[in-house]
Amino acid sequence: MSIDRCQMLELPKVHDPRGNLTFIESEVHIPFPIQRVYYLYDVPGGSDRGGHAHKTLHQFVVAMSGSFDIVLDDGKNKKRMHLNRSYNGLYICPMIWRELDNFSSGAVCMVLASSKYNESDYLRDYAEFMRERWHA
Ligand code: TYD
Repeated sequence: MSIDRCQMLELPKVHDPRGNLTFIESEVHIPFPIQRVYYLYDVPGGSDRGGHAHKTLHQFVVAMSGSFDIVLDDGKNKKRMHLNRSYNGLYICPMIWRELDNFSSGAVCMVLASSKYNESDYLRDYAEFMRERWHA
């Protein structure tokens, strides 16, 4: 799967003088069923997260507060995406290596995932990722 499949998706936004509202419906606003939600927070300045790929997992990442970057890598091409709005998010398809960095202070990174946590779905070694990616 190429990084071209990984796109920023705009979410519905209900404008209101009392405060805006955004919602995400499983398989409606994102292209997979949601089975898990997790979030990164209290990330120290200069810290990096990620550094792995998933064999089958689909994810959707939203900057709920603050900002950060996600570098996507399909083994051939890389692209750096800046996330800083809570009304859009980045869809990441399976078999994409990702690194998260450049976290602002107070950033909260929410991830919607297509499966429950399963360590055997991770590829944590870049050389192994490249082997699975291109020589499977
Ligand atoms: P990991 O996915 O490697 O973090 P990140 O990609 O954000 O840098 O997860 C870090 C640790 O947290 C790992 O040891 C497993 C645990 N974990 C769970 O138990 N459940 C989860 O849903 C996630 C995402 C991680």
